[in-house]
Amino acid sequence: MGGTASQLQRDFDRIALLPEDPWDHNARYHGFLVRTLPPRLETALDLGCGTGEFSRLLARRAAHVLGVDLSPNMVRVARERSVGLLNVEFHVADVADWAFPPDSFDCIAAIATLHHLPMEAMLTRMRSALRPGGTLLILDLFDSSGVVQVLPNALALAVDRLIRLLRTGRLRPPSEALQAWAEHGRRDKYPRLAQVRAACREHLPGARVRRHVLWRYSVVWRKSVTSRDPRSVQPLPRPPEFLRRRYNSLARWYVLFEWILWLPWGIRERTVRLLELRRGQRVLEVGCGTGRNLRYLQAALGPEGHIYGVDLSEGMLDRCRALCDRNGWTNVTLARADALDYTVPVPLDAALFSLSYGTMLHRVRILHRAWSQLRPGGRLVILEGKLPPGFRGRLLRALVVPLMKATVLGDPDHGACEDLAALTKEVRVEESFFGGYVICRGTKPLA
Ligand SMILES: C[S@@+](CC[C@H](N)C(=O)[O-])C[C@H]1O[C@@H](n2cnc3c(N)ncnc32)[C@H](O)[C@@H]1O
Repeated sequence: MGGTASQLQRDFDRIALLPEDPWDHNARYHGFLVRTLPPRLETALDLGCGTGEFSRLLARRAAHVLGVDLSPNMVRVARERSVGLLNVEFHVADVADWAFPPDSFDCIAAIATLHHLPMEAMLTRMRSALRPGGTLLILDLFDSSGVVQVLPNALALAVDRLIRLLRTGRLRPPSEALQAWAEHGRRDKYPRLAQVRAACREHLPGARVRRHVLWRYSVVWRKSVTSRDPRSVQPLPRPPEFLRRRYNSLARWYVLFEWILWLPWGIRERTVRLLELRRGQRVLEVGCGTGRNLRYLQAALGPEGHIYGVDLSEGMLDRCRALCDRNGWTNVTLARADALDYTVPVPLDAALFSLSYGTMLHRVRILHRAWSQLRPGGRLVILEGKLPPGFRGRLLRALVVPLMKATVLGDPDHGACEDLAALTKEVRVEESFFGGYVICRGTKPLA
């Protein structure tokens, strides 16, 4: 470990802006690590994802990849370099404070990240966050000082210089990069290889620890399929079929959850107002449920407008249909489908996710799909619950997450506003109920 979190962030914010280097010691071992994985994964987590190179490799095998990094500049560059990849998302977060959901990922990777963190505590947390059968991949530097390391170091240097010369035509990186890394390196501390092996014996029994030529070691560990963290229940969000069944059984009680989860009075009306609908326009509600927003949408669009609603749960949609019949609303088209596969037959003026985004397993892909159906100038609004910042949020998490798991399955770490901000610069965010709810709106650029 070395350096404070803010110092590290400053170092990596600076390093993120360096030109891409075609010769990177960590990337040299990416292929080796990926080949240890099964051909298909559901979810993968890349801790300390940097500019996202390894996350993008994981995305070739995993349905969904989450990259997390302390440095906003790294995350910005990672997003820029991943445009068009719909199954990767990046978030700014300090992994040291991150609440790892138990039994949640088929792969967790930490590339050149672990030495910035308390090793033993992190091994335990990563082990717990892996699903049974999941794979932990670590690549990191070790302390290679001392006389016995003279020969291996000389070999590493020779290999490094030769490959750099072949790839870039020069023996050393540009001076700007050398300087940035040297300043960062002064604060870095690496464990001895013997320490790594001892920690793995203790926390990751059966792990394969290998020493590599370029001053690095790797750890590959597979969590036993029968092991399960005792604290764990299934993570959020849940797969669509599970969600469908849960909402089918919740449908008749659904309205009660507005009280239980303190949905602020008037927030639906305010959310719909942000869509800036005009009479006659067309709107899609993604995960429309029992239709709790329909009367506000109707008031804005009039009978000449049209509302499309898609939802996984037939139980929720039956109630929505009954509501339309009672009110004589004939301008509503409802579809039972996964929003991931649903297309509206006309270009949309607006799209709404109301309390549904955090329940969706493939939410970033669903968001992109809804966005792609908007006409230029169209608006997309997301209303979601979230945890307030700071101590109150950490306290509430212990209450909210089990409540969500037992009921509506919303993930308070949905990152809706960040996901929307990755699509457009024109984003407006409003918080409500002391940071317990958020409404974000993105407008699709005209050109
Ligand atoms: C908390 S309810 C919100 C319902 C409604 N929008 C509201 O504001 O009251 C979440 C809804 O999202 C739906 N949903 C979740 N994932 C979905 C998906 N992939 N495709 C379609 N609907 C989905 C659920 O079936 C559920 O009805």
